[in-house]
Amino acid sequence: MYINFWYPIGLSKEITADEPFHAQVFGLPFIAFRDQAGDARVLSDTCVHRGGSLGKGRVNNGRAICPYHGWEYAGDGRCARVPSLDGAKPPARAKVDSYPVQEKYGIVFAFLGDLPESERPPLYDVEEYGQEGWKAQNYILNVGCYYQRSLENGLDPIHNEFVHPLQGAPKMSSDLQKALLPVTEIPWGTKFFMPFGDKLDENTALASQREGDTVGKAGSWHQGPNQLVTWIEFTKTDDNTITAFHQYFFEQPVDEGHTRIFFLNIRNWLLDDELDQRVEDVTLRIVHEDISILESLSPVRSPETNTKEILMPGDQAVVRYRQCLRDWDNRGWRIDMRALRDQAGDVAFAIPCPGRRESGNWVIDAVPLVNS
Ligand code: FES
Ligand SMILES: [Fe+2]
Repeated sequence: MYINFWYPIGLSKEITADEPFHAQVFGLPFIAFRDQAGDARVLSDTCVHRGGSLGKGRVNNGRAICPYHGWEYAGDGRCARVPSLDGAKPPARAKVDSYPVQEKYGIVFAFLGDLPESERPPLYDVEEYGQEGWKAQNYILNVGCYYQRSLENGLDPIHNEFVHPLQGAPKMSSDLQKALLPVTEIPWGTKFFMPFGDKLDENTALASQREGDTVGKAGSWHQGPNQLVTWIEFTKTDDNTITAFHQYFFEQPVDEGHTRIFFLNIRNWLLDDELDQRVEDVTLRIVHEDISILESLSPVRSPETNTKEILMPGDQAVVRYRQCLRDWDNRGWRIDMRALRDQAGDVAFAIPCPGRRESGNWVIDAVPLVNS
């Protein structure tokens, strides 16, 4: 699991000015709430007085209030009031990590890391979101798997015909299956996008709705360790519109065995409201077919060396994704989960926020990192 990327924290509608929203990422606790301007704020959950959980407290006047002795934290993480000091200034060390936030696609994202703004990898830009002619459905999937396994599943085109037999597609011809998957580099990730032969999806319940010539292209890419995109293009209509499903998965690694996936399913066909349910039924059936596989993989976390699996040419996108992870290992962004596990219960940890590069004297330890 990696610091220095954007992670979904909660849905916009879950995050309010009245009570803290509690989220767990990398096994660590966070809270989110809205300040007096209505902006979402994301803080580390652990109170620096004596370890109270801010998530168990309340929010008042844009401040998170610890339930134990009432210390009040502003959205920037500074403790603004210690009730027992009776109006005196709180100690300078009284601060918790506060993370940069972006609110997009009905989701509140936090940048969980300490990079300055100019060096941060971007949040994925879904250009067609909210555009005319596109319809979005938003789902939360709570999956009992490690997030890396879920990303790798999305980057694997061969599984479709086995895991999704009803869908039957996009099915690759045997020539394509034998060839090395054509993976290209994109900023902060890798991508494949290609014609899938002539068997595109003819069995699906939705196929009869199509108009125009078959395009039959599909592919997936990742940006960062936890953002996955799949586009499936079906036909080109008379006005040159390509009918497509665009699927975006923003993954929150809850811990080493659980992932909360914020799934945005966008389409530019089947737009009638009465088709929503049908699209949802087919989409969620496919998603649950994947989940059933993902929740029974062994080992739970992808092996650290490729010799513990037999990778095929069609697994090339998985190989390239893992190479990206190694690159981020070398930058010192990988959390040392073993060290974290060893000290669990003895030490409270937080993901370092950008503020740690500007001031010292932090009470809560920053998470241990591999290679740093
Ligand atoms: S532990 Fe939070 S105020 Fe005392
Ligand atoms: Fe799948």
